[in-house]
Amino acid sequence: MNKEKNVLMLSGDGVGPEVCNEGKKVINAIKERYNFIVNIEDELIGGASIDKNGLPLTDSVIAKAKSSDAVILGAVGGPKWDHLPPKDGPEKGLLKIRSELDLFANLRPCIAFKKTANASSLKPEIIENLNLLIVRELTGGIYFGEPRDKSADKAFNTMIYTKKEVERIAEVAFESAMKRNKQLCSVDKANVLEVSEFWREVIQNVSKKYPEVKVTNMLVDNAAMQLVKNPKQFDVVVSSNLFGDILSDIGAMLTGSIGMLPSASLDINSKGLYEPVHGTAPDIAGQGIVNPIATILSISMMYKYTFNEPKISIEIENAVKQVLENDYATPDIASENSKILSTQEMGSLIADYV
Ligand code: IPM
Ligand code: MN
Repeated sequence: MNKEKNVLMLSGDGVGPEVCNEGKKVINAIKERYNFIVNIEDELIGGASIDKNGLPLTDSVIAKAKSSDAVILGAVGGPKWDHLPPKDGPEKGLLKIRSELDLFANLRPCIAFKKTANASSLKPEIIENLNLLIVRELTGGIYFGEPRDKSADKAFNTMIYTKKEVERIAEVAFESAMKRNKQLCSVDKANVLEVSEFWREVIQNVSKKYPEVKVTNMLVDNAAMQLVKNPKQFDVVVSSNLFGDILSDIGAMLTGSIGMLPSASLDINSKGLYEPVHGTAPDIAGQGIVNPIATILSISMMYKYTFNEPKISIEIENAVKQVLENDYATPDIASENSKILSTQEMGSLIADYV
């Protein structure tokens, strides 16, 4: 194999730079093993960019993101910037890059590994062999809807979806279901919101193209409960931006640690941004204890979805599995028999296994 790709790395704030650094080790290991060259350029986003440029994301970084083959992101935000309003804060950088690159499809797999079952707050038998995929709409809904405003005595946002927006995320969800167990649960709040009633209708319509997929609809409050009660009833879950955000945090915790959950945010051509679902964790930043696995698994998704190299993707997943099987752990997923590793040791070990 002799391939070459250009990746923009936006490590961001808090633990972001630490986990991204470990991701680089894995990319380099793949380069050596497969002669698949990934050139990495580092740039700023979030609080780090505000400190240097006064903005959470500059036009030049957006241009670089657009011209690269994929983007890897760490995390954004932290107490230092909490005083800023949402429109100027670090998170705005993340929302802006998602929308500028039209990354409407956010895939968040929740996979329980045997060795980390004890780290979950649920009973091991509830999550054993859990493998579900949350497909979250990422560039529409209440996150971006206009009008929006805040004044001294009132504030409002708009939850809005067009037919085209729901159709394209529905397509991604149905296609994903076709490659898995052919079950799709669409989550909404159709007993209260018109926008959800509409969402449900569009999903039903798209489902006609996929007669093999069993579609169910679930209200979001019930879905939150069912995810905790019996998560194995789900295969693929599709939802709007806000509901998907909330449900995927539940999904993350089911697997034991939010430090394990990767994500891919894709455009219509499967160009993507890859980031761990966890945040900047300012309380543990700089201590060398953050779990880099979510980032490493996000990089595995990059090889699968954007670089179309499923074999390399599985190779990385297997390296992670083997490291866990051999009882290595970062503190967040440690149990009695674990050999506890630092962030850097964990990244190096996974790269070695690759
Ligand atoms: C996520 C995060 C972001 C979101 C924040 C940081 C803007 O919670 O990726 O899930 O709400 O989408
Ligand atoms: Mn979130």
